Amino acid sequence: MTDFGNAGAWCREIWQKYIHEGDTVIDATMGNGHDTLYLAQAVGESGRVYAFDVQKEALEKTRARLEKADVLDRVTLICENHALMEKHVSCEVDAVIFNLGWLPGALHDVTTNADTTIEALKAALRLVKAGGFVTLCVYPGHAEGERELEKVAAFVKDLDDKRFDAVSRGYENIRLKPPKLFAIAKKQ
Ligand SMILES: C[S@@+](CC[C@H](N)C(=O)[O-])C[C@H]1O[C@@H](n2cnc3c(N)ncnc32)[C@H](O)[C@@H]1O
Repeated sequence: MTDFGNAGAWCREIWQKYIHEGDTVIDATMGNGHDTLYLAQAVGESGRVYAFDVQKEALEKTRARLEKADVLDRVTLICENHALMEKHVSCEVDAVIFNLGWLPGALHDVTTNADTTIEALKAALRLVKAGGFVTLCVYPGHAEGERELEKVAAFVKDLDDKRFDAVSRGYENIRLKPPKLFAIAKKQ
């Protein structure tokens, strides 16, 4: 059967292709740390991952996951709004990833917010080096997620095509509103 996959898998395809050993990357939404762990393994011992979340619970879960995999030493865990990522990361980075929404398995009252997501995306595009990229996985199946999708889509559409290449990928015909991928590459 033909299976086009999903936004989470499309993100990973991009990370797999363009994140290399020694890279410096940001996970703007660490959550339970699955993506942070993926990044830590991809950048290897010589790389660095900065991971952000506003919930202490996310940091604790991620720390335990990274410790178990013996990669905690290459990750900096930061309890902060990702819109303020430049307070904590002063170097250029190879990639920034966003997996929006709420902490899986926790209450849904702390979710990413369309306005701060746009501020964080602007910061990410300032920090990412020429040749680097940003991915976002957006979940429009809830009210704030729908607002995020609208705002992110409008923001991305307006990006200067001399400086950035921006693409999106998602299903056109599914009423349950599955997640959508946005990927932005900063030109050399
Ligand atoms: C869908 S989860 C991320 C899942 C994660 N990538 C993983 O692999 O488990 C989204 C996370 O974003 C966090 N979050 C919400 N608002 C945020 C903000 N302004 N800055 C940073 N993190 C935020 C939530 O607390 C939640 O843990």
